[in-house]
Amino acid sequence: MSFYTMGIETSCDETSVSILKDQRDVLVNLVSSQIDTHKLFGGVVPEIASRMHLEAINPLIEKALLDAKLNYSDLDLIAVTKGPGLIGALLVGISAAKALSIATGKDIIGVNHMQGHICANYIADKNLEPPFVTLVVSGGHTYLCVVKSYTDYEVIGTTRDDAAGETFDKVARSIGLGYPGGVKIDKLAKEGNSQAIDFPRAWLEKDSFDFSFSGLKTAVLNFVNESKMKNNEINKADISASFQEAVMDVLVTKSMRLIDESGIKKFAISGGVAANSRLRELCTKECAKRNVKFFYPPIELCGDNAAMIAVAGFLNYQNGKSDNNYLKVYPNLSL
Ligand code: KG4
Ligand code: ZN
Repeated sequence: MSFYTMGIETSCDETSVSILKDQRDVLVNLVSSQIDTHKLFGGVVPEIASRMHLEAINPLIEKALLDAKLNYSDLDLIAVTKGPGLIGALLVGISAAKALSIATGKDIIGVNHMQGHICANYIADKNLEPPFVTLVVSGGHTYLCVVKSYTDYEVIGTTRDDAAGETFDKVARSIGLGYPGGVKIDKLAKEGNSQAIDFPRAWLEKDSFDFSFSGLKTAVLNFVNESKMKNNEINKADISASFQEAVMDVLVTKSMRLIDESGIKKFAISGGVAANSRLRELCTKECAKRNVKFFYPPIELCGDNAAMIAVAGFLNYQNGKSDNNYLKVYPNLSL
């Protein structure tokens, strides 16, 4: 007998509903992105996000079942993102999941969005099993951890200020690339010289696995402002390439140090920034040098999606966890 989990994700600007068969078999993963609306405002507008989730969620749930050729009664579990994320946006997903759970009598489980990101790797590679070292880099969070088992995560390092993705978005805005900035910087950086500008790297204390990106962000903003004041033309491609290199240098060097110290021979990346081509290139090279197997999700599973939430929910449920209709949202949840 197959086990069907419906995943629901509404933490930020993507409404997503998925249906997962057993542990890793994604039958449907529908994603409705709000980016075209938010980019008019230069970033995510929380109130608009909530309203758009509300409009999209029910039709997506119905379409997911139709596409999977299943009925409500076929579902075994409803997995929904409980945090971190925008409070109003999260509430839409949680409310829909509770309504489904009450109507069908099926169990509900709240999922940590960041655990979801890591689980995207299980969909991409059906053979990946813990333990492995992982770097989770999204718009709001940066984590370096050891995945000890499917449900046990040890956070070794995190950002002390801005998240990696957030820094990409802010730098992109400062050079007029618009929102969302990560993918635009990634593209433009290919035409630039990554050695053109010597932007700072915050290594922090010698043995620290933490990150800090606010100094780098300020350095880029200062560089742009000074150039404008001096009427120097700014080379956006060089700024993009040099900035990206500074972020990736620190992310990859610290990840590799953890791999070396832990002796673990598997490394996985996830989250929106895991789509970055330079990050993938550097990790591929550094892992090959160390004989470490490198895992990364396809681009569509790096961004927010409900398939990864369904996998995380299924794994936690299998490990004996579940919630009930008192499930709350946790906007500031950490990993
Ligand atoms: O994981 P995600 O979709 O949403 C959150 O949970 O935050 O991550 C979104 C972040 C944004 O900051 C976006 O600019 C960044 O991922 N991003 C990228 C790339 N594609 C998306 N950053 C660098 N390079 C990319 N190719
Ligand atoms: Zn995310």
